[in-house]
Amino acid sequence: MLSRKPLVAGNWKMNGLQGSVSVLQEIIEGFDPGLTTKVDVLICPPFTLVAQFTERAKGSSIRIGGQDCQAHVSGAHTGDISATMLEDAGATYVIVGHSERRADHHESDAIVQAKAKAAQDAGLIAILCVGETKAQREAGQTLDVVKSQLSGSVPPESDSGNLVIAYEPVWAIGTGLTPTINDIAEVHHFIRQELGLIIGEDAEKTRILYGGSVKPDNAKELLAVANVNGALVGGASLKAADFLGIVRAH
Ligand code: PGA
Repeated sequence: MLSRKPLVAGNWKMNGLQGSVSVLQEIIEGFDPGLTTKVDVLICPPFTLVAQFTERAKGSSIRIGGQDCQAHVSGAHTGDISATMLEDAGATYVIVGHSERRADHHESDAIVQAKAKAAQDAGLIAILCVGETKAQREAGQTLDVVKSQLSGSVPPESDSGNLVIAYEPVWAIGTGLTPTINDIAEVHHFIRQELGLIIGEDAEKTRILYGGSVKPDNAKELLAVANVNGALVGGASLKAADFLGIVRAH
């Protein structure tokens, strides 16, 4: 892998039924072969579609990932899915610590760290999300919040091969709002610095994605910001044309 080869990851959240494989098919067909050396592309569908999607994506350069995993490998955890199960189903990445999980399921930094570690132990690349709420930004706490999320949730033994950070301001998710280019540059620079304190030199090579209302029409500008190495895309990843528009912004 080229160091810091950008990654565009689609997070489908709780969307997608068996028929949605047609959207994946459109993405596979629309992904220009010339782009494979420039950008990695990942789709994270709901668990129910992971095995089917990995089967369909075989032979293409599209990767499939999960949206969460349990910290344990197996056992009495009704309803949960382990990183090992995701890997077994063909996934190569998993999102951990998304703000919707931190909020809906009260996931602490310690839980997110255990999940990231479990993902890495299972051979997956963990996409670990951090980001401030609107109130925290307005109170000038953005960097403090991001710092404590990173120090509490990044497994120290991570490296650029098994960790991706996603900066997702909570107030920018699904709202159509995005931070200014300067604000994104400031936070991404800060994340790289802080990551260096946790994982060492490999922080230089670790990809830091921006997420929150990335669309085809703002992707070029957002993805050109220093230390932005790709995007985590929610809503716009559900339509092949929009998602491909973001991929092609590279
Ligand atoms: P959005 O979601 O692109 O719909 O804002 C991003 C995310 O939650 O990962």
